[in-house]
Amino acid sequence: MKKITAQELRNKWIEFFKTKNHTIIPSASLVPENDPSVLFTMAGMFPLVPYLMGQEHPGGNRVANIQKCIRTIDIDEVGDNTHLTFFEMMGNWSFGDYFKKEAIEWSFEFLTDEKWLGIPLDRLAFSVFAGDDDAPFDEESYNHWLRLGVPAERIAKLPKEDNWWIAGETGPCGPDTEMFFWIDDGTPAPANFQETASDKRWVEIWNDVFMEFEKKSDGSLVPLENKNVDTGMGLDRVVAVLNGHKSVYDTELFTGMFDVIGLSQDILSGDEVRKARIIVDHIRASVFIAGDGVEPSNKERGYILRRLLRRAMVYAKLLNLQENWLKALVGKVMEEYNEAYPELVVNSAKIFSVIEGEQDKFGKTLEKGLKEFSKLFERRMHHPGDSVATPPQQGGENSPPFQGGVPTEGRGGGLTGTDAFNLYQTYGFPLELTEELAESSGQEVNREEFSSEFKKHQDLSRTASAGTFKGGLADHSDIVVRYHTATHLLHKALRDILGEEVWQKGSNITAERTRFDFTYPQKMTDEQKQQVEDLVNKWIEADAEMKQEMMPLEKAKELGAIGLFGEKYADTVSIYTATDKDGNVISREFCGGPHVEHTGVIGKFRIAKEEAVSAGVRRIKAVIE
Ligand code: ALA
Repeated sequence: MKKITAQELRNKWIEFFKTKNHTIIPSASLVPENDPSVLFTMAGMFPLVPYLMGQEHPGGNRVANIQKCIRTIDIDEVGDNTHLTFFEMMGNWSFGDYFKKEAIEWSFEFLTDEKWLGIPLDRLAFSVFAGDDDAPFDEESYNHWLRLGVPAERIAKLPKEDNWWIAGETGPCGPDTEMFFWIDDGTPAPANFQETASDKRWVEIWNDVFMEFEKKSDGSLVPLENKNVDTGMGLDRVVAVLNGHKSVYDTELFTGMFDVIGLSQDILSGDEVRKARIIVDHIRASVFIAGDGVEPSNKERGYILRRLLRRAMVYAKLLNLQENWLKALVGKVMEEYNEAYPELVVNSAKIFSVIEGEQDKFGKTLEKGLKEFSKLFERRMHHPGDSVATPPQQGGENSPPFQGGVPTEGRGGGLTGTDAFNLYQTYGFPLELTEELAESSGQEVNREEFSSEFKKHQDLSRTASAGTFKGGLADHSDIVVRYHTATHLLHKALRDILGEEVWQKGSNITAERTRFDFTYPQKMTDEQKQQVEDLVNKWIEADAEMKQEMMPLEKAKELGAIGLFGEKYADTVSIYTATDKDGNVISREFCGGPHVEHTGVIGKFRIAKEEAVSAGVRRIKAVIE
């Protein structure tokens, strides 16, 4: 089989889809332009959702591209053989044009034809959706693979958890067919794929999704106007496996990066390899994130960038990298990617200044912070009960916020939450980093305590700024609270009926009515108004439970919570979720409340008026009767 470089693979992809009459479109920014519900573009399809939902694409109904993506969901696993925070996803799309037949034929041709990847059929296997109560067995895809010469035993029929694709909880979705490559470790590929599909040596290299449905928040699947194709092939992974590498970090994309920082994976020992990989992965991702205009901060994307950079800096310190390592590595990443992503060259001065600026900031406290960490750590090892008097200081820019997952319950032992909070507050150590450092020596951080320290601090600063702090509802009377909950249901119903382009622009509630402004380009039809009204009343009748939870912003976004368009949220947020009796989520919104406990008490909901506010913004006035 032919060896292939990343740039050759990119070129082949583009060339191939040009021969199939696709318009080649540039990668969209890593910062989603139209979707404030996610922090970063996480798959090639994210920027294309409006077109999968029926909007016309300026490039026509067949496009292909190579999309920059960031995923931080598995950040703890970065450094093993397969996980990366930044990756490139190659994709081809049909917006209501071709469907299963062509998509599968072209995937087959690109993978096996000598002119393209030339992979022997014997090293490939395929999976299709087996069918369930919601949707039938994807017999059509199965038959297309057979017809192309794939032996039946190399086509596995798998359930929804494997062969169904959706970006979040709701939205465009459908069955998919996936392509797998057998890694050559001296064992020939097994003949039967159904029985061996979970073997790690079968590596998924491409996914063709057939998006025919929209999943609504009540769980129902509604056929989309168009039958679409959304495919994704991960570039790093394919370059790695086609060149016989065991790890994505062994490709030529990374070797130069390890070289410039004076590290070689061959001579490092186990945990050092992981740390070195984290350094190059995180700096590569940071270069791309900064290249798309994000700057380190204590919020949202800026916090992710800060966390990636600071984690890499701590590991660089622990591995004793020479002083200019960061500049050299940033330069190398740009050099490696400038051909495919010329924006890195255009923005290079800015990228250097953003990343080096963060190095200057964190560098001042990093060494002291690590010393403090060791001191606290030692003390906790020997005197677990002591409280350590570290003076809290105002951390300013060096104090990233609490951005952990759900606090774990008193696991006992290890660093106290106050220790971790002081490291965070005084030395700018993100909580996750302190946890990681503690964990590597078998200690744990008390998250609950951290969380309560954090909250104490937050309350203090809130009181300090109370003069300018506006929030909550002025009137908490029973009727206003009912209107408030009804407004959440209205927001969600509008998104379900009109589409995800609907975002709240503002709302105003009195004891007489709710007024809700939202983005939408045209007047609603009578039928749409009726559908929205019916849906809200259905949810009221379902007597959904409204529950409040505090959670890190990142988690709320992952859960698809909706909020105010363009709003900046705090790092720990209050989320209200309406759930029906079967546990299905009806609506989930950023909100401080208060709300009713059960929607049944709201009463009957009616849209009294729908009108324009300004270009692209509509207003609904609705009443409860
Ligand atoms: N949207 C599909 C994926 O990301 C292609 O795997």
